[in-house]
Amino acid sequence: MADKSMEGLNTFTDQTEAAAISTDKKLRVGIIGCGWIAASHLKAYQKQPDVEVVAGADLIPGKAKAFFEKNGVTDVKTDYASHKEMLDDESLQLDAVSICTYNRQHMEPTVYALKKGVHVLLEKPFTVTLDEAVECMRAEKESGKVLSIGFQPRMDANMKQIKKIVESGELGDIYYVQTGGGRRRGIPTPFGTTFIENDTAGVGALGDIGCYSLDMVLNALGNPKPLTVSGYKSDFFGKDPKYSGYAKGKGEKYSKLFGVDDFAAAFIRLEGGIILDFRIAWAMNMDTPGDTIILGTKGGLRIPSTECWNGSVGGPMKIYHEVAGQQVETVLPIINEKNGLFDMKIRTFVDACKNGTPAPVPTSEIIYNQAILDGIARSAELGREVEIVIPEI
Ligand SMILES: NC(=O)c1ccc[n+]([C@@H]2O[C@H](COP(=O)([O-])OP(=O)(O)OC[C@H]3O[C@@H](n4cnc5c(N)ncnc54)[C@H](O)[C@@H]3O)[C@@H](O)[C@H]2O)c1
Repeated sequence: MADKSMEGLNTFTDQTEAAAISTDKKLRVGIIGCGWIAASHLKAYQKQPDVEVVAGADLIPGKAKAFFEKNGVTDVKTDYASHKEMLDDESLQLDAVSICTYNRQHMEPTVYALKKGVHVLLEKPFTVTLDEAVECMRAEKESGKVLSIGFQPRMDANMKQIKKIVESGELGDIYYVQTGGGRRRGIPTPFGTTFIENDTAGVGALGDIGCYSLDMVLNALGNPKPLTVSGYKSDFFGKDPKYSGYAKGKGEKYSKLFGVDDFAAAFIRLEGGIILDFRIAWAMNMDTPGDTIILGTKGGLRIPSTECWNGSVGGPMKIYHEVAGQQVETVLPIINEKNGLFDMKIRTFVDACKNGTPAPVPTSEIIYNQAILDGIARSAELGREVEIVIPEI
């Protein structure tokens, strides 16, 4: 399951860069939600010489303690029943938290932490609904603290290259973009039920991996504002007992518990007259719903999808253009990243907290991603196109 096997998750931060970091004052960090992805946060923080992970909290009693023990860390406080108790513990003198909770629990700890004056690195997707994201941004604005969203694919040199190509004008004016990705069978149930139950996940493939596809292109295009969306979602695979095993400890098949989407598609109008055609699947009777393509008046860019969609560039990209009247293709070889994407996600967040610089993945950009996800869900439920209106922050 590709999201959980992001390339580069566990590679080490380059030590020559680490040597230049001031360690006079260590950033005191807590982890909220000690499940699967929290381990990647912990490992990346451990590689930073100017960070001390001092606490962790989980709603499940004993889970935070067991998590740190499993990762060989003993000198942290974990006796908290929720994020609130940990953030209320003034003896911790927390500077920052990583919020690694399931989607439905993204907003509450984020707002609470910011109100306590603590910087936040929040896992993707931003939230489940647009209103929740707006609440987070209002708390961010009021607090003046850093709120960064956990999109590590943005750190990838190949991803940065897509943005550079668009900005270079090589493609001319962009008018149509197709993005998305998929898995033939990739509902993330091997990792429990928090991704598929509505009261924990709130959104399925659409939010889980759809947010990556949207970020790949929205970021490259300079984050144009979404105007309208006509969306569709379905759950044919998730709800079918034929494709389902038994959920450990739940006494039910996953298909009985499945309460989110496993496929979504949409037609989105963006500011500047750009059309965005989107499709995403955790499961389908197809290998891929297609590569990402960006069509411009001077050239077109093809970004190969990964076989099991995880938000990264799946192979050499190709620009289709004309040279002196001849139609040609330019192949851009894959760039190998020296540093792990997850390590860079943590390092850039730590730097923003320490230096008072903007969040590496700012909410002012990801709000458009969230508005589209929210618009697709609303449109699918209403069965018609909807307008996207982003409230005043
Ligand atoms: N960036 C990535 O590559 C990546 C990969 C996997 C997951 N994620 C994201 O990370 C989030 C968590 O995913 P996961 O796989 O670790 O889920 P998980 O279910 O394994 O862990 C979530 C944990 O949070 C705890 N929790 C929930 N609300 C809490 C609260 N208010 N206070 C304290 N603890 C709380 C739960 O008890 C659970 O142990 C999801 O939003 C997911 O989309 C990101």
